[in-house]
Amino acid sequence: MCGIVAYIGQKEAYPIIVKGLKRLEYRGYDSSGIALQGNNSINIYKKQGKVVNLEEFTENLDRSGTVGIGHTRWATHGEPNDVNAHPHYSEDKDLAIIHNGIIENYDSLKHQLLSKGYTFRSETDTEVLCYLIDDIRKNTGAKLGESVRMALQQVVGAYAIVIMSKDEPNKLIAARKSSPLVVGIGKEGDFYLASDATPIIEYTKQVVYLADEEIAVIKRGSELKLYGIDDVEKTPYIQELELHLEAIEKGGYEHFMLKEIHEQPRSIEDCFRGRLNASEGRVSLGGIKEYEEKIINANRVIMIACGTSWHACLVGEYLFEDLARINVEVEYASEFRYRNPIIGENDIVIAISQSGETADTLAALELAKSKGATILGICNVVGSSISRITDAGSYTHAGPEIGVASTKAFTAQVTVLTLMALSLAKQKNAINESKYRAMLSGLEVIPQKVQQVLEKNSEMEFIASQYQSASNALYLGRGSSFPVALEGALKLKEISYIHAEGYPAAEMKHGPIALIDEEMPVFVIATKGTSYEKVVSNIQEVKARKGKIIAIVTEGDTQVKEIADHTVEIPETDEHLVPLLATIPFQLLSYHIAVMRECNVDQPRNLAKSVTVE
Ligand code: G6P
Repeated sequence: MCGIVAYIGQKEAYPIIVKGLKRLEYRGYDSSGIALQGNNSINIYKKQGKVVNLEEFTENLDRSGTVGIGHTRWATHGEPNDVNAHPHYSEDKDLAIIHNGIIENYDSLKHQLLSKGYTFRSETDTEVLCYLIDDIRKNTGAKLGESVRMALQQVVGAYAIVIMSKDEPNKLIAARKSSPLVVGIGKEGDFYLASDATPIIEYTKQVVYLADEEIAVIKRGSELKLYGIDDVEKTPYIQELELHLEAIEKGGYEHFMLKEIHEQPRSIEDCFRGRLNASEGRVSLGGIKEYEEKIINANRVIMIACGTSWHACLVGEYLFEDLARINVEVEYASEFRYRNPIIGENDIVIAISQSGETADTLAALELAKSKGATILGICNVVGSSISRITDAGSYTHAGPEIGVASTKAFTAQVTVLTLMALSLAKQKNAINESKYRAMLSGLEVIPQKVQQVLEKNSEMEFIASQYQSASNALYLGRGSSFPVALEGALKLKEISYIHAEGYPAAEMKHGPIALIDEEMPVFVIATKGTSYEKVVSNIQEVKARKGKIIAIVTEGDTQVKEIADHTVEIPETDEHLVPLLATIPFQLLSYHIAVMRECNVDQPRNLAKSVTVE
């Protein structure tokens, strides 16, 4: 959460920073701000709300300067207002800082500083860090980089920070621990810093991802210098970015979410690349190949995640158990880590995360690692924290996901899990050859089938128009369609603010059935498969209570069509692959309802995409 951008070089900093902040707004949009190195002073502008508010506010102000730092905030300490917005600055405005993360011991540090006579303007933990650096600088006479290093030694918590000083105008100091920070190395000694590579990509492809407790000293026109918090100099590892600019632009779609929904045939295909070959009967995930034996022989396999990624874990549980006969437990990362879990060396913990930065997932992995477990990751963002701390893993290759509500990342996660389950099943001899071959062929044509489902867009728009004013909605599914029901309900909640619940269809009679009346839309996944007849009975139960039924059915279905108010057909596929198709109509439905209700689709209220706080 929170996005940070900074620039130092020959060009004007303001446009680079503002453009970068807009790209990072998915990380939070409670307020934004910018600090620019002026003529012997730092100009700081901050405004509640989105970056466009900041642009309007600064229209007639001095926005010149070739060094600057900017921030877009998801509020943690202190309400979202102008004062609590970043950058924060020292009492005399000589220092300015941007921060993503949380300083956990800020209260005790604040008390120390208050006793020295400092007065604070904001309620934030970040301002405390700024004052601490300033205090060290003034008391020791140390330069900025050294003062930052000494201050960070006193800090408990997570941070990605960039600091500038009026007294050292050709320098920026940056550091990170547990929150991401990338440094782009431009031509002619220009440097770009950001929480992810999207603000950097159009200027340079040469980047350095800072590691935990690394401090970067960045001087205009000079080389990037890296130090550990122990002051030992390190050699920067420069990487070439593989990201392309088109991937982070809307490409003619009205919203990123709609673009990302429509990208799914391609993102699933990208996920297969080099991993799946049905005609040769081959499936292989290079990243985790050497861990397969360990997974098969593990004492326990635990999947951990948050949000939508947690739903992907639930699908993974069905796939691993049914196809590979490997027992899996699924845990919310936030619960797992505080439960003193019993973990040992023979356990495997697999984390699933689009961003690779979710604080709870990261902390849960660290805990599992400290207890000797093997930790694996399934992440979308290359170079992210989770992908770096895990022993091994697989990327989902879905490309940048910018809409806050996850869509293509979810189907890519489910695709990786399907590939993994099939590879493990084969290795373990848990699947017979004809079933294995049929599944590989079925999987290979999923992108075309996703495309067919996307063609139901106007049908979903019509259904959306019928239920846009609902106050509640129920989503039902069984087997691996139960997580699809949960995900469908989450999408509706997230972007249209309609209360929705996902339930295993059979559980409906143990409570939610009491809510059903003629006002209640009930979305049911009723595709052909093991539980079809049972789900049909559940639909009858809803119908008997006058609930409105919208059912996702297999092409050619006649039975459900007779009872449901609306049916949406999806192409026939193996039961295990249904989640990859059945999810799509729900994504489209939520999208259209949110648009009809005039909600902010890409940046829903109170949410952020990369949740770097616990
Ligand atoms: C936030 C996002 C969700 C996401 C969840 C987990 O809540 O809004 O879309 O599913 O975090 O994020 P991760 O990056 O770990 O998948």
